Amino acid sequence: MSSNVLNKVGATIVKLSKSLRVQLLCWVLFTLFGAIAFNLYDSFWTADATAKLVTDRTLLASARVIAEAVQVDEGGNAQVDVPPAALEMFDTGFGDRVFYQVTTAWGSLISGFPDVPLPVVQRVGEDRTFHGAGVRIMMLEHPVVGLPADGAISVTVAVTHNSQYAMRRQLWFSDFSKQFILVFVASLVTILGLQWGLAPALRLRDAVRERGRNRLDPLPPEMVQTEFRPLVHALNDHMERVQNQMAAQRRFVSNAAHQLRTPLALISTQASVAAREKDADRRDEALVALRTSTRQISRLASQLLTLSRAEPGSRRPRSDATDLSKAAREILEAHAEEALKCNIDVGLEADGPVVVEGDGTMLREMLVNLIDNAIRYTRENGRITVTVRQADGYAIVTVEDNGPGIPQGEREQVFERFYRIIGTEAEGSGLGLSIVREVVDGTGGGVSLDEAEGGGLVVTVRLPIR
Ligand SMILES: Nc1ncnc2c1ncn2[C@@H]1O[C@H](COP(=O)(O)OP(=O)(O)O)[C@@H](O)[C@H]1O
Ligand SMILES: [Mg+2]
Repeated sequence: MSSNVLNKVGATIVKLSKSLRVQLLCWVLFTLFGAIAFNLYDSFWTADATAKLVTDRTLLASARVIAEAVQVDEGGNAQVDVPPAALEMFDTGFGDRVFYQVTTAWGSLISGFPDVPLPVVQRVGEDRTFHGAGVRIMMLEHPVVGLPADGAISVTVAVTHNSQYAMRRQLWFSDFSKQFILVFVASLVTILGLQWGLAPALRLRDAVRERGRNRLDPLPPEMVQTEFRPLVHALNDHMERVQNQMAAQRRFVSNAAHQLRTPLALISTQASVAAREKDADRRDEALVALRTSTRQISRLASQLLTLSRAEPGSRRPRSDATDLSKAAREILEAHAEEALKCNIDVGLEADGPVVVEGDGTMLREMLVNLIDNAIRYTRENGRITVTVRQADGYAIVTVEDNGPGIPQGEREQVFERFYRIIGTEAEGSGLGLSIVREVVDGTGGGVSLDEAEGGGLVVTVRLPIR
């Protein structure tokens, strides 16, 4: 039970210590209390000095009154009749006791207490103890006419500390209360200032919190102070990026659905035709068409999957060591039959292994798409050359064909998702080059399209070797 309470208190303290308001308040109060502690220490000693000074003045005045009352008779003996006023001046209502002693310069007692302690220097107050009580004492030497030898007497007056200490306390306390009021007012002003200063930031917090899930329009930076404006700008930039991404995502999904719908409708029609057909040959024909459409749609699906995997952040970053020469050879071998069918001459120029770090599967997908395009878009009896080499810390792969090439004006657009050049007959989804671009971007490289010698396309991919 009690440990539960302690835990709660601890958690609250941790939470408070993370609050900017509490932190600022602590700093202000810490500084303020430091200054006040120093001030109180200082003012204590000032009050003390003042109280001593006032007591000393009274002691001196009293001693002087007593000294002036000393008289010398015909026999040369000094006598004193201490006037009551000399002692009454200490009656300040604090119950102080007064002691005095009057002696001749040679030390014989004229009047008063014989054992009053004597100060070292005359006219300078000193704190001593007398009869078990703390006293302030003062001694005064005074010439008296008619006395033999050097003709002087010394008067010592001592008074207990009550009045002196009371005065010190009073002076100090008035300072103390002033300081206390100061701290109180300063804390109040600080709290109000913080409340007022932090209000815009809190309003910003609420504005962000209250937004609907899909509200991404920018927040006005003027709603907060200048210090917070970079934060609002960063927030707005971020929301703009998210907005663009969401729009791209929506476009992509709608495009993908559109691309899937057409072949699916075709498949449905072909299936009904095949089912209705009585003639075996014509049914077989319909079934072959059905298989082709199915292959097409399954290729589209797998291209979509590859593209989503190539997007940044969709797969755990992998860094396999991939030999691009070896990968290119294997992919060309896999496409050999297809190339042979169209009588396309395929060649690979690679001196030796060219190893790059990166996601091996994705790098292969990139090569597959480039080689597939070259075979697909080169007319019969064509020629394809793949080169893999290494230069200036880059692996450079080129895929060159003598097909129709891509017009200058469309060399950027073909990298867009689902973009196909109008009039392209060979089947495809328009995703191949988008996959290539995603993979290349993911490794920090670059890809460019150029016209090959004698027409045709040459694709150059540069990947950094780490
Ligand atoms: N080697 C090439 N020669 C000529 N045109 C090409 C070549 N590679 C790509 N293209 C053109 O670029 C378009 C986009 O290619 P790609 O993104 O791979 O999609 P797909 O091949 O599925 O159509 C293709 O439709 C084609 O018109
Ligand atoms: Mg393609």
